[in-house]
Amino acid sequence: MLVNSKKMLLDARNNYQVIYHFNINNLEWAKIILEKCNSMHTPVILGASLGAIKYMGGFRVVTGLVKNLIEDLGISIPVCLHLDHGDSFESCKKAIDAGFTSVMIDASKLDFENNIKETKKVVDYAHKSNVTVEAELGHVGGIEDNVISNILVANYDECVRFINETGVDSFTPAIGTVHGIYKGEVNIQYDLIKKLRDNTNVPLVMHGGSGLSHDILRKAIKSGISKINVNSDIQYVWMEAVKKFILENPTVYDPRKIIYSGRDAMEKFIEDKINILHDNK
Ligand code: 13P
Repeated sequence: MLVNSKKMLLDARNNYQVIYHFNINNLEWAKIILEKCNSMHTPVILGASLGAIKYMGGFRVVTGLVKNLIEDLGISIPVCLHLDHGDSFESCKKAIDAGFTSVMIDASKLDFENNIKETKKVVDYAHKSNVTVEAELGHVGGIEDNVISNILVANYDECVRFINETGVDSFTPAIGTVHGIYKGEVNIQYDLIKKLRDNTNVPLVMHGGSGLSHDILRKAIKSGISKINVNSDIQYVWMEAVKKFILENPTVYDPRKIIYSGRDAMEKFIEDKINILHDNK
């Protein structure tokens, strides 16, 4: 069932649980993630970045792919199809018009007032179509930022103002994580998470969920994170498995066999991530 992220994230927030956002890159990624989460009865958010959407052929290709997989595979868990890091009102509008059920407007490169303005514009448009909106404040860097510094971290008072004035459904405060594989020490701002969890009512999102230990993830969830985005880690475990398969099977040329040889590793990774939810109470 394709749904927006409202209920699943509020349920997670209210129970100090988390919904995973796993990024999809292609048919196989979407299929493997859907089947695995379905077998574990765990709702999931499929995140598609603008780059991945372009790679797959366009917004409508992605909605068609996900909708039809849900139907043809008999997926019965709630599934949300989410635009990851929409860079403008226009890109969010394209996703909404194509049938995405959730969008992220990442106007974090704009100054504070313009970030509010752009985000509010997306919220007003999205809510008319029952689409949920996530937005970011502060800056969740990439691996180029590498060194985790306080400059990246969102300011509490601005976060509260941002949430109230934009009407977003979920919120990404920069809390010290970065996208990609970590090289430096991660310094997560648990106090900021707790304060926002206790004083606002929107589900909080952690970007850059790769490369973090299960203890860190558990602590973040206990502090009040309700959505964790994971991309690089799945790509990495897939790559390692496929590399091994190719080395061990140098004569295989069927792309289905090659691409799918990463399936077990991906499934194991997803299973481990979901299992941490059960001992997080
Ligand atoms: P990672 O690639 O670090 O897991 O980050 C994913 C992400 O935050 C997508 O929005």
